[in-house]
Amino acid sequence: MTNFNINGRPVSIEAAADTPLLWVIRDLVGIKGTKFGCGIGMCGACTVHLNGRAVRSCITPLSAVADAAITTIEGLDPQGQHPLQKAWIETQTPQCGYCQSGQIMQAATLIKDYPNPSDADIDAVMNGNLCRCMAYVRIRKAIKLAAEEMRGGAAHE
Ligand code: FES
Ligand code: FES
Repeated sequence: MTNFNINGRPVSIEAAADTPLLWVIRDLVGIKGTKFGCGIGMCGACTVHLNGRAVRSCITPLSAVADAAITTIEGLDPQGQHPLQKAWIETQTPQCGYCQSGQIMQAATLIKDYPNPSDADIDAVMNGNLCRCMAYVRIRKAIKLAAEEMRGGAAHE
């Protein structure tokens, strides 16, 4: 049995130690916002936070999250009103949407590290999160809008 916390809720999971966290989250915990893209750590669709840092859940074994705190897109903000989520809507960033929960979770740690990110900062941190719809320009714009709000600037509806 592996115990950890997900989105503020304690869970106990009985599964093999090498079970990817992605499948633990989707199939055993039963929350589906975290997506499968490549399964080999190359696309970012499965990004969640492990103790506050972005990780690829498809290559993170269950054994690595014992007693840890996991946050998925569902737990980023209880009301779905994180500045990133609001900025994503304002800029109509998603196209098909499939990559976007991973993009937002990666962006959340980017903004922690770079409260006023430049284009180069964004490109450096986000370049492992692929978008086959090529929404990169809107993603960059949304990150800057959210960062502005988080620095105490204009709130965006
Ligand atoms: S599904 Fe995890 S990085 Fe692609
Ligand atoms: S919005 Fe379609 S893959 Fe990114």
